[in-house]
Amino acid sequence: MNKIKIGLLGCGTVGSGVIQALEKNKATIAAKVGAELEITKVLVRDINKKRDLKNGTISFTCNIDEIINDPEIKIVVEVMGGISPAKEYVLQALKHGKSVVTANKDLMALHGKDLFEAANLGNVDLRFEASVGGGIPIIGPLKTSLAGNQILKVVGIINGTTNYILTKMAKEKSEFNKVLAEAQRLGYAESDPTADIEGLDAARKIAILASIAFNSRVTFPKVYVEGITKITTRDICYANELGYTIKLLGIAQQNNGTIEVRVHPAFIPNEHPLAKVDDVFNAIYVQGDAVGDAMFYGRGAGQLPTASAVIGDLMEVARNLTQGIFDKSYCTCFEHKEIKPFREIKTKYYLRLTVPDRPGVLASIASVFAQHEVSIASVVQKRKTKQAAELVLITHLVKEAYLQDALSAIQDLPFVTQINNVIRVEDLDDEVRVGE
Ligand code: NAP
Ligand code: HSE
Repeated sequence: MNKIKIGLLGCGTVGSGVIQALEKNKATIAAKVGAELEITKVLVRDINKKRDLKNGTISFTCNIDEIINDPEIKIVVEVMGGISPAKEYVLQALKHGKSVVTANKDLMALHGKDLFEAANLGNVDLRFEASVGGGIPIIGPLKTSLAGNQILKVVGIINGTTNYILTKMAKEKSEFNKVLAEAQRLGYAESDPTADIEGLDAARKIAILASIAFNSRVTFPKVYVEGITKITTRDICYANELGYTIKLLGIAQQNNGTIEVRVHPAFIPNEHPLAKVDDVFNAIYVQGDAVGDAMFYGRGAGQLPTASAVIGDLMEVARNLTQGIFDKSYCTCFEHKEIKPFREIKTKYYLRLTVPDRPGVLASIASVFAQHEVSIASVVQKRKTKQAAELVLITHLVKEAYLQDALSAIQDLPFVTQINNVIRVEDLDDEVRVGE
């Protein structure tokens, strides 16, 4: 049987998982591809690091040229992460006629266009299923099985680390930093976990999904981002009392030719399927005009789930190689749609304020909201101390700009002690009826 040689860039959580899973399922993979897949060279930063790998045929190097200039290597798998030097290495590989499989959302969400152009010029494949949703197949289904739909909306829990943290905070009342350390130990978090907890990782993923879903390139800087660092167990308790669960959502939708794309924590109704997605699991909810609602669910991070997605891509690319073909049409950004300014977006809000507990305060706040066209759907008031009360308000749908202006005006009121938190509420109840 033919052998297809592979160069691996990176041997950390994902890279070592790829080596392990390829070795374990070697025979089946070879039978399905029609060729044996063999990792021959692995690029690492520290050649002296002890690595617990059973595959003795691999040689390690710190020199990228040993992989790029090796004519025997036909596929490069990039699982080192970051922008530079990953971008330069991937471009070099594509220019040298090597197909590339990557798990790198930072790279795809910022430089996807350049990489696709290089792949097309080099007549080679570029695949990136593992860049979104870990082990969940979502990029392939959007590009193939759902390609006949107009996609209206994509809503996802697309960061495993933050979902793990929010789940532990809600269920076990665990402290934020302790759960983050656990997520890092389990290999879920990025090397710098700021990208996870500040929502940047999810923003990169929703940029990739929006580009594919709406056939128009959305880059990471175009995504509005808020992370989960301001979420407290107090907010989680209020959400629970009101029938909601707090999740970090990536939301992309299109209306009248414009795209709305954002990442932020949100209250979602307890009965929605996304509210039941816990721990490191991710789920991506897609609405198409033909399929209606579809949800993709699975492990969104971790060694073997991510390796599963990388290997799926690797097998597709290897099959193409054995047949002498490549996926010229794999980039589907053939339209140009505007991104809606964030201040124009309409959502409902949960607001938690600390105010003096005396007559007239609630009326004054309600009046400021009314002046800014913010309509209040419900109010809960709880006494906190002798002088101060905590107000929890839920608004009706309102434009972001109006809400922010109202909050500035409230902050200027002499008596408001503190705006403790502002979290969007997503009812997610706009179910599509097939055929409409
Ligand atoms: P990681 O554990 O930090 O591993 C990175 C690997 O790349 C290490 O082996 C490191 O070498 C090597 N490396 C980094 N910079 C290098 C450089 N400049 N030159 C040579 N080698 C370099 O990262 P990971 O968690 O496996 O993530 C890898 C990629 O997969 C990232 O793009 C990440 O976003 C993506 N991803 C990760 C997950 C996950 O659950 N972890 C899921 C989906 C996607 P040393 O071993 O010598 O340090
Ligand atoms: N750090 C990412 C997460 C890894 O927690 O989801 C998967 O991309």
